[in-house]
Amino acid sequence: MLGKSPVKDVVAAMTIEEKVKLLVGMGFNIEGIPAGMLPPVAPEDKIPEKVAGAAGRLHAIPRLGIPTITVADGPAGVRINPIRHKDSTKTYYATAFPVGTLLASSWDTALVRRVGMAFGHEVKEYGVDVLLGPGMNIQRNPLGGRNFEYFSEDPIISGNMAAAIVKGIQSNGVGTSIKHFVANNAEYNRTALNTFVSERAMREIYLKGFEIAVKKAQPWTVMSSYNLVNGTYTSQNRDLLTTILRNEWGFKGFVMTDWFGGKDAVAQVNAGNDLMMPGTLTQTNAILAAVKSGAISKAQLDADVTHILTVILQTPTFKNYKYSDKPNLAADAMVSRTAAAEGMVLLKNKYNVLPLSGTNVALFGNNGYNLITGGSGSGMVNKAYVISLNKGLQNSGYSVDPLLSDSYGAYLADAKSKMPKPTMLSMFMAPPPIAEMPLTPEILKSRSAASDVAVISIGRIAGEGADRKPDDFNLSRVELDMIDNVSNAFHAAGKKVVVVLNIGGVIETASWRDKVDGILLAWQPGLEGGNAIANVLRGKVNPSGKLAVTFPVKYMDVPNAKDFPGKPLPGTTAPANPMLGAQPSEVTYDDGIFVGYRYFNTFNVKPAFEFGYGMSYTDFGYSKFALSSNKFNGRLTATVLVTNKGKVAGKEVVQLYISAPSKMMQKPESELKGFAKTRLLKPGEAQLLTFIISAADLASFDTSSESWMAEAGDYKIKIGASSTDIKKDGSFNLAKPITVEHVHKALAPSGPINEIVRAQ
Ligand code: BGC
Repeated sequence: MLGKSPVKDVVAAMTIEEKVKLLVGMGFNIEGIPAGMLPPVAPEDKIPEKVAGAAGRLHAIPRLGIPTITVADGPAGVRINPIRHKDSTKTYYATAFPVGTLLASSWDTALVRRVGMAFGHEVKEYGVDVLLGPGMNIQRNPLGGRNFEYFSEDPIISGNMAAAIVKGIQSNGVGTSIKHFVANNAEYNRTALNTFVSERAMREIYLKGFEIAVKKAQPWTVMSSYNLVNGTYTSQNRDLLTTILRNEWGFKGFVMTDWFGGKDAVAQVNAGNDLMMPGTLTQTNAILAAVKSGAISKAQLDADVTHILTVILQTPTFKNYKYSDKPNLAADAMVSRTAAAEGMVLLKNKYNVLPLSGTNVALFGNNGYNLITGGSGSGMVNKAYVISLNKGLQNSGYSVDPLLSDSYGAYLADAKSKMPKPTMLSMFMAPPPIAEMPLTPEILKSRSAASDVAVISIGRIAGEGADRKPDDFNLSRVELDMIDNVSNAFHAAGKKVVVVLNIGGVIETASWRDKVDGILLAWQPGLEGGNAIANVLRGKVNPSGKLAVTFPVKYMDVPNAKDFPGKPLPGTTAPANPMLGAQPSEVTYDDGIFVGYRYFNTFNVKPAFEFGYGMSYTDFGYSKFALSSNKFNGRLTATVLVTNKGKVAGKEVVQLYISAPSKMMQKPESELKGFAKTRLLKPGEAQLLTFIISAADLASFDTSSESWMAEAGDYKIKIGASSTDIKKDGSFNLAKPITVEHVHKALAPSGPINEIVRAQ
């Protein structure tokens, strides 16, 4: 029996059929999916989910004491059905936490860990064993449809944020699944997109964050991605799932496919993709036949079974935990609200328009009345309520112009009533935006007379299954007109204008930012968003978030814009039903390691707002910068004193970048190697921050020797308030090159990739 005897004895007692059963999941019984749309499953698997709305579960083997464990989405809150069997007397709502992009903008791993603790409690109290999150792919291009689920364009931030939330969630005794492993940076033809990428870019950019998360936090599971890398599905790639993930990084849990991901279950098992989700009859039969024919070895089968059983042993279900179905949603809402405010980024604050001084706010823009809490698809959360910005402002003591709020209320209700009846698919995909309400000159004139200030909210939503379009990056004509007209009217009346961005991914700001006085980037802030935004606007919370992603001036400034998201392979056709497949396509990552700020800062392309940027209501001074030595002998310490020089309390995010010699290897102008956030410093208060630099921080991946190498020469350390606002710097010398780590040859593309290069 599992738990009574060692796992190896349980494995030895299992029949081949039982082992295969464990490798192929079940569930995903979603009401409303038309018959025949999903692949066939065994008749005995057609039973209701244990937790309604969960994404699936594993098979039980009762004679050996192996229970069925449940997995559920997703990255910003537990995604389950809020109401079961049409009985609304008992509800199962979950907290919508702020999206990953917002959490990363806090640059505060302790905060993100606390979010994880609250989040994991809900996972456990709803009877779920493994949460299918966090998502942690690199935000390679602003249009990536799932960017909101992910943290950053930078792997150090992504890895550390993922590690923090995994630790928080797993501290409850439930598991996580870091996803989607790996290079799943677009939604375009996502189950058939072949990504060509160099070994170096793979190691330094796309794998690095996962490596940090695995080594720091040991997630119970990893989810392989839908795409192919250099010609092989990630879920069928042994280099990736066994050589790198297990052997090099020491991953101890199990790997599951993304839902119906990959093509060949036998290749998946042999690659070390332990679990097929949500599992089909075809996969079961194929794996059984392969075990019998020897195409899958007994050793591989037993290894996969062992990985799964080792995780099952830790689950609440195995431990017979009596979950309550009553997590403390009120307490978690406060965690969500706090985190939301901590990750908002103040982009502009001309004449200190913020914190808002007046009391009468004219609130413009649909999103002011209809907050977007998070993205769509499996990343969405069924929450009990949403605090709109309108409500949040009122809760915070502002009075919101009633004429405007009544007009917007009526306008939005009418527009919603005219929308087509939602279908299964439309509910999963991002809803089409409602056009902004037209504003007449008379309204603008009278409102600017009646109010102290204008707040304009601009919103964006995207999600699984589709990337955004350049039109979604740019503001529409109507939105630009709204900004123009409101600004002209309010400025003519001597009043100020603030824009609140309620978005999940990067948008264009350069063409309109000079027209307004303040810009607060509120991201998609979860169910308490309106209260959190109002707390920042009011000055109850001093904004301390900074960008973990670059805001380019125009979309075409992004190095991979011309090829994103990829193109179909010649001679192929798109499937009639996009839900049932994808057209074989490919994309080549010719931006190599020059992703995000690594590109902008190296190639001198000025962004609208650079990576690491964010303002505060106070000012900080940087002093007493010191490096422990000017010679590198395995380790260095950098210290800096940060002082609050302004009039209100605040926190500062401090970033450490390194510029390397770049004589033998291409290197970005500088790379983030460390970051820290001060505690809340009162005016005049100071905090000493310490950063440790190890050899690994100097190294790059050298493909010819398959190793991480640091070249000899002079290195520069930069302490910045952003990636370009460098406050202090120093240098040190590395006398001899260091080979930090030798790794295996893995994931090599079949031919060279013509990557962009930095002029020497
Ligand atoms: C998504 C995953 C998700 C899974 C289960 C897939 O379509 O890509 O992120 O966890 O569905 O819902």
